[in-house]
Amino acid sequence: MRILITGASGQIGCNLALRCLAAGHTVHGVDQRPNGWCDAYPVLLHDLTRPGTPGLLTTQLAAWGKPDVVVHLAAHAKVHQLVLEPDKAMENMVMTQQVLEFCRQHGLPLVFSSSREVYGNARRDITAEADADFALAASTYAASKLAGEALVYSYARCYGLPYLVFRLSNVYGRYDNDLGRMERVIPLFMHKLQQGEALTLFGADKVLDFTYVDDCVEGLFLGIQALQAGEVRDQTFNLARGEGHSLRQLADYLAGLLGRAAQVVEAPSQAGEISRYVANLELARRLLGYAPQVSLPEGLRRSLAWSRSWAAAHG
Ligand SMILES: NC(=O)c1ccc[n+]([C@@H]2O[C@H](COP(=O)([O-])OP(=O)(O)OC[C@H]3O[C@@H](n4cnc5c(N)ncnc54)[C@H](O)[C@@H]3O)[C@@H](O)[C@H]2O)c1
Repeated sequence: MRILITGASGQIGCNLALRCLAAGHTVHGVDQRPNGWCDAYPVLLHDLTRPGTPGLLTTQLAAWGKPDVVVHLAAHAKVHQLVLEPDKAMENMVMTQQVLEFCRQHGLPLVFSSSREVYGNARRDITAEADADFALAASTYAASKLAGEALVYSYARCYGLPYLVFRLSNVYGRYDNDLGRMERVIPLFMHKLQQGEALTLFGADKVLDFTYVDDCVEGLFLGIQALQAGEVRDQTFNLARGEGHSLRQLADYLAGLLGRAAQVVEAPSQAGEISRYVANLELARRLLGYAPQVSLPEGLRRSLAWSRSWAAAHG
């Protein structure tokens, strides 16, 4: 199978591309910046917000061949950053529309990476797919994902475009320690603990569903296969671990792993952040056979081992 991945230089894009290559598929990537992690697949450097993007991608098909599936991961992916820079939420919507238009012009099925942010801050015990509500949008990032989903559903209805939407949640693990570009809570806490710095917990009792990257990628991969084979289409899935952990628990696990005492500063949640999310995974289990394997303590152990080996190899 030939798979085109947007956002292919990002954390999930890089992990997914390597998973697809390992299964014998061909991967082409698009991203506005080079991949700093690996060079195992070609990445076209292109800003997907640029007008004329569908035409440019079409030109590229002469060199690449027509993909069987497009996976759209490119986005400004940091919730609080988009609260500070709301123009970037609009860019997320523009990218999604241009990628959808490219798919429509070539009859290509699309996998779209949405987010648990579409559920807002409703503090349910456990959240199922039908609980999403645009009126609950807690941030401009959430609005960009809700709008992205709405565009996907409208392309499916108007043009028959086959799709799968995955709502991801706090993905962590390999290829996520580029803190200068993007601060993510787990690599950030690891770094601070190693430096002997205090951890700021924005909402210490906030409960989130942390997903080890291999589980996330496996779910996406199952979706790609099922969509391409025509076995599953036009579905929206939660993709997570299915367990909630507070930021305080996360800090304790990491401090234990590193053998350090965590100095903790508690602060209120930042604007736009949600305070509880635990995914109901029933639909992904039933339709895709999704079965996440990695608990948070085990995932943190693997993340730490990976970040140490990366640091040892790259300084
Ligand atoms: N990682 C998570 O915890 C998580 C959770 C929910 C949803 N998501 C979604 O999953 C997707 C992938 O997330 P990630 O963690 O790999 O993020 P990431 O930031 O590591 O990767 C996103 C990539 O998109 C690229 N990009 C941004 N704007 C672009 C543009 N205009 N043109 C071309 N490329 C552009 C970036 O350069 C980056 O490499 C995103 O859509 C994100 O919103 C991620």
